Amino acid sequence: MSGKLPIKIAPSILASDFARLGEEVRAIDKAGADYIHIDVMDGHFVPNITIGPDVVKALRPHTKKVFDVHLMIAPVDLYIEAFAKAGADIISFHPEAGPHPHRTVQAIRAAGAKPGLVLNPGTPLEVLEPLIGDIDLVLVMSVNPGFGGQSFIESQIARIQAIRKQIDALGRDIDLEVDGGINFDTAPRAIAAGANVLVAGTATFKGGEAAYAKNIATLRGGV
Ligand code: DX5
Ligand code: ZN
Repeated sequence: MSGKLPIKIAPSILASDFARLGEEVRAIDKAGADYIHIDVMDGHFVPNITIGPDVVKALRPHTKKVFDVHLMIAPVDLYIEAFAKAGADIISFHPEAGPHPHRTVQAIRAAGAKPGLVLNPGTPLEVLEPLIGDIDLVLVMSVNPGFGGQSFIESQIARIQAIRKQIDALGRDIDLEVDGGINFDTAPRAIAAGANVLVAGTATFKGGEAAYAKNIATLRGGV
């Protein structure tokens, strides 16, 4: 089932050179990235601060690829409109960020973006059940959110398998994305478990611009 799905690679620009963000986005676009994964952190929901809607807006003219915006902020609803207007195509959020996750899904849809739900390594899978019919993406965190460069948490493989079964049973076109510690060893295992979108920060940007295309192709499993 999952083996037949085309695999999409979503480089996380968190691992890029922030002083040259526009160039870096153009480089990963050219190197074959499918989605551009943008990690938004507020120093409150997670212990790190990254970028906001103005940076997303500034990056928008640099590529036509899908902007996959991962919000690690609380509250979420207050900022949805700004990220959608800035050019976010997919907006994913953590259910722990607020008391009304279904309202957040509706707000993302109403703003013209695709809603995604993010499951931390310790988030019970049950939170998915009332929302899965209304979202376009499930993001399984294979590290705890906040930083790039962490090690893949093995227990998430079984959760990816379980969610793949739910998605297939539902028959809707929902991306199953995995984020954190994805490298040349863990990528094939995440794909075998049923993921069809791989976020990769460190593994994409390793080796500088000359290596991006090969890194992305290797992660996809095409080489
Ligand atoms: C962590 C972020 C990830 C991170 C992945 O909170 O959501 O997207 O950048 O980084 P790597 O691929 O280096 O583990
Ligand atoms: Zn992320």
